[in-house]
Amino acid sequence: HRHLLGIEGLSQAQINTILDLADTYVEQNRSPNKKSDVLRGKTVVNLFFENSTRTRTSFELAAKRLGGDAINMSVDGSSVKKGETLLDTATTLNAMHLDVLVVRHPESGAVKLLADKVNCAVISGGDGAHEHPTQALLDALTIRRNKGRLDGLTVTICGDILHSRVARSNIQLLNIMGARVRVVAPPTLLPRAIGELSVEVHHDMATGLKDADIVMMLRLQLERMQGQFVPSVREYYRFFGLDYEKLAAAKPDALIMHPGPMNRGVEIDSLVADDINRSVILQQVELGVAVRMACLDLLTQHGRNDPA
Ligand code: CP
Repeated sequence: HRHLLGIEGLSQAQINTILDLADTYVEQNRSPNKKSDVLRGKTVVNLFFENSTRTRTSFELAAKRLGGDAINMSVDGSSVKKGETLLDTATTLNAMHLDVLVVRHPESGAVKLLADKVNCAVISGGDGAHEHPTQALLDALTIRRNKGRLDGLTVTICGDILHSRVARSNIQLLNIMGARVRVVAPPTLLPRAIGELSVEVHHDMATGLKDADIVMMLRLQLERMQGQFVPSVREYYRFFGLDYEKLAAAKPDALIMHPGPMNRGVEIDSLVADDINRSVILQQVELGVAVRMACLDLLTQHGRNDPA
């Protein structure tokens, strides 16, 4: 592959290759000397049309830890504000001989459109409600390091599935790796085509969380709802917010995960989010850097013009 635009189409072997390499980078990141020269002479540009804390910072850190050069394009300060299109922006950057372009965009499919027009590798940092592949990979690494495997585990994804590219990428990856996936959400926050995905659908946390090995919470994406979300946030928290009472249905050693950013008191109780024995939310962030190092490493191994 020349690009990483989604989990769809990846094989179990390819996912394992990324996770195995990422494991080695976890060790590098924890060592006193965090830098290597795998990406020496390579240039990585972050082009983010949506806000980000984790994804953008970790791609920048990942490139630098591997000895590459990383540039963050600020869309606010760019010629996008003068009306330059997405494609013109991308081909302009491409003309500067980049090796990797990391793109986040609010429209599903926008990253693919752009990837077809450039000759550098493109990694999706999330496109609309479509995919967020590196998030699913870092979630998989977090699960694998804590549980020793992915296959056979029951993973429950709770909340705003409708707007979640994180959910879509995770559902695909977990199915490829042999996990059982459940989703829990009010009917208004499920995609109409949920039946086409390999998931068990629940509208009630008690049944959805029953004996789950992994509880993955999602943020209510109010910015994508344009006022059509009817229940109040308080009511949502009462039925779908993760607190200790609801968590009791899951296995006693179930891991609590959240891709971030969290809205405490909306989809998750602060005490649960900060539970040092159960919550791996900050470990997800740590492993995100290693996963992005693995992706940058693999996509730059074969030069600029390899066929896809
Ligand atoms: N999980 C995630 O993608 O976070 P950011 O939006 O902060 O990058």
